[in-house]
Amino acid sequence: MTDYNALWQSAESLLDPQVHPLSNLANISALIRFSITDINWSGFYFLIDDVLNLGPFCGLPACIRIPVGRGVCGTALQQDMVLCVPDVHAFSGHIACDCNSRSELVIPIHLDKRVVCVLDIDSPVLNRFGEDELDFFGKTAQRIEYCLAENRTLWKL
Ligand code: SME
Repeated sequence: MTDYNALWQSAESLLDPQVHPLSNLANISALIRFSITDINWSGFYFLIDDVLNLGPFCGLPACIRIPVGRGVCGTALQQDMVLCVPDVHAFSGHIACDCNSRSELVIPIHLDKRVVCVLDIDSPVLNRFGEDELDFFGKTAQRIEYCLAENRTLWKL
């Protein structure tokens, strides 16, 4: 069992608006991958020129570009909504980067009310993401949005 209260304290202090956003996103990817049970991939895809591009992540090498509306990530982006997929094999158009993945959660991240990237989390366990996870990852996404708004270095690359 994951202690989400303790983990939130770590996540909140790790996500520091004073540091470069890429460093924040790399560190939170690793925290998610290694501090929560049954997670095989966690990371970010950035919306650049109308395509999602692979950003900082922790897990096996993944597909580099995802068009808007494709896969779980591109669908979450297009609909600007959290997508919780209990069985990826039942999701039409799912893009399999790690063949061990069985369930997936994708959360759009906003800057100035527009989606700029998505947080993608994969699990080798069916139906891995419940209320505790939705709550924790929702708070994490909000903290990331706060950091991005406070430190816009990334968007000047
Ligand atoms: N499964 C995702 C692709 C990204 S990987 O899971 C890292 C999708 O269907 O969009």
